[in-house]
Amino acid sequence: NQYLKCRSLSDFENLAKQRLKSHRFHYYNYKAGQGHTYQACRTYFDKQLRIIPRVLINVEEISLKTTIFGKTYESPIIVAPTTFHCLANRDGEVGTARGATEAQCIYTYNWMYSTKPEHEVLQTTGPKFLHVYLTTPTKILEKIVNEAEEKGYRAIVVTCDHPTDRVRDDVLPLFEEASKTIDRELTECMPMPNMNAKDIIEKQNFSTGSITWANVESLKQLTKLPIICKGILSPIDAELAIKHGANGIVVSNHGGRQVDTAPAAIECLEDIVKVVDGRAEVFVDTGIRSGTDVLKALALGARGVLVGRPILYGLTCGGHDGVKRVLETLKRELMYDMACCGLTSIDQIDANILYQHI
Ligand code: FNR
Repeated sequence: NQYLKCRSLSDFENLAKQRLKSHRFHYYNYKAGQGHTYQACRTYFDKQLRIIPRVLINVEEISLKTTIFGKTYESPIIVAPTTFHCLANRDGEVGTARGATEAQCIYTYNWMYSTKPEHEVLQTTGPKFLHVYLTTPTKILEKIVNEAEEKGYRAIVVTCDHPTDRVRDDVLPLFEEASKTIDRELTECMPMPNMNAKDIIEKQNFSTGSITWANVESLKQLTKLPIICKGILSPIDAELAIKHGANGIVVSNHGGRQVDTAPAAIECLEDIVKVVDGRAEVFVDTGIRSGTDVLKALALGARGVLVGRPILYGLTCGGHDGVKRVLETLKRELMYDMACCGLTSIDQIDANILYQHI
């Protein structure tokens, strides 16, 4: 069985590519423009950052435990908000949440674009962040953010790098291809059960590009939970995020899906950590594909990393078990890489593990 032979995140991706209908794979795998931004992330991880091993240090017991907003978690690896999980597997977001629960990782639930209703996802017991779009109609947004703490969410993740909902070129080809290749299940796989038809139509009125920091401030009034601004690359925006109440920042270019030739998120991380200077917790995503990537991100000051597409590929290959295996693979690789650097806990990871000439 090819699935059981998957050992690395790229094995899961290759198998998902074989198993998914091609237009579904392309939707998940989509990169804006020529994909320069995504590639820049991979190049930065692979060529710019090098790990310098340390030897003969006792690393018998390694722990990935860490704290995020004052709470202890089993690992710094977090499932990023992504869309339409039923395209990958019929368990959809319930499968993803179950896999994350079993792997003891935080799951970020994309409320609006979930293909499974929230109450089903909340049956799973693992720690969760709630992801929202500021373009959600105000009444709905206020209600879900108001109720988030009671429902057990630990933080609110707000997408900041998606100014409008005008036609984007990632979803359209999905439908165009579907009509050519006869994907009869497609529409069944893309419901938005948390929104009714009226809400979906109303949503268009809120997607005009008029969202600003004032919207983040209003959100902040609705909850005591930490607010995480996702999609920041500029240190100027990091400063503004803090000014407007953010407790966390995800340095991200959205997996290279927004504006092509934006810099690699991992390249922007160090400057943002410097500017933030401990006033908020800083996370990073895009292109995290191995334990060494996680180690490098933490060395540059990230409190945690978010992982997007590999989760969808795990879900495609093995349902909830595939999600669990993707996350366990990353955790196992991270522990091995820490051992090679003589590190036994997350708080020992710092820039000293990155090679620099004397
Ligand atoms: C995303 N991402 C995303 N981000 C966000 O803030 N809101 C969203 O609705 C989505 N939707 C979405 C759909 C799909 C199919 C993908 C692949 C990604 C971006 C996501 O949260 C994350 O930033 C990237 O996926 C991280 O990059 P990698 O790990 O996929 O390389």
